[in-house]
Amino acid sequence: MTEYVSVTADTPTARTGAIKLHGPEGFAGMRAAGQLAATILDALPPHVVPGVTTAEIDDIVRKMTLDAGGVPATLGYRGYTHSCCISINHVVCHGIPSDRTLKDGDIVNIDVTPMLGGWHGDTSRMFLVGDVGLKARRLVDVTYECLMLGIEQAKPGNYLGDVSHAIQVHAEKHRYGVVRDFCGHGLGQIFHDAPEVVHVGRPKTGPMLKPGMFFTIEPMINIGRADVKLLDDGWTAVTRDRSLSAQFEHSIGITETGCEIFTASPKGLHQPPY
Ligand code: MF3
Ligand code: CO
Ligand code: CO
Repeated sequence: MTEYVSVTADTPTARTGAIKLHGPEGFAGMRAAGQLAATILDALPPHVVPGVTTAEIDDIVRKMTLDAGGVPATLGYRGYTHSCCISINHVVCHGIPSDRTLKDGDIVNIDVTPMLGGWHGDTSRMFLVGDVGLKARRLVDVTYECLMLGIEQAKPGNYLGDVSHAIQVHAEKHRYGVVRDFCGHGLGQIFHDAPEVVHVGRPKTGPMLKPGMFFTIEPMINIGRADVKLLDDGWTAVTRDRSLSAQFEHSIGITETGCEIFTASPKGLHQPPY
């Protein structure tokens, strides 16, 4: 049985497994954190070009977060020591910034999670480096459509399974694989909280969506099979068949009538080309 608990700014924030239902303070906190996250991604296009290292991009993310009075939630998270994840081509998620340089034709996911005022804004977008082939661009477009079709289903009275199903149907219509091993998540004053938001599922299953629920939707879609494997660094997840993978992520809050996208781009840089 799904358990829900109403929370206010001074309710203990422990991870209990119950789904938190937040009030106006929560929406205000998430809006501020989410807009910082989106503003950071908005600043990146000039830097996501051939020859730049992913560590240089990580430095920009860290500085922008700290300058705004936030802290990168990934810094020191379960032993992770960077300010964002940068996942290139067949890397599904959790790519570690390094001295690797971006190359013409790469498709790149950059995932940022600033914590601001105690709230977490978690969002990622795909970036195209130089000239990207048609097949890769189509994967990126369809992955963005998957995220937005999922968000369309995020309204009170619908179920989490309605969100998952919309994503799965659209991806599989294009014969893409939907990653099962990683999912979206509740968030707020905790980075990863209940519920788990899987990206495949059946309509009218899972927890019912209620006003005040905060969670991410972050489908990872592969041109090939859905299977992933973890590299020896313990973080980097890649497609087993080395096919290209794409991902977009938003943090949302269920409202009385639908949902608010906390991490919507202030500059309108929703999907490439930017
Ligand atoms: N931002 C990722 C997410 O969407 C989590 C990254 S955790 C890290 O949930 F440690 F890998 F950075
Ligand atoms: Co997330
Ligand atoms: Co993220």
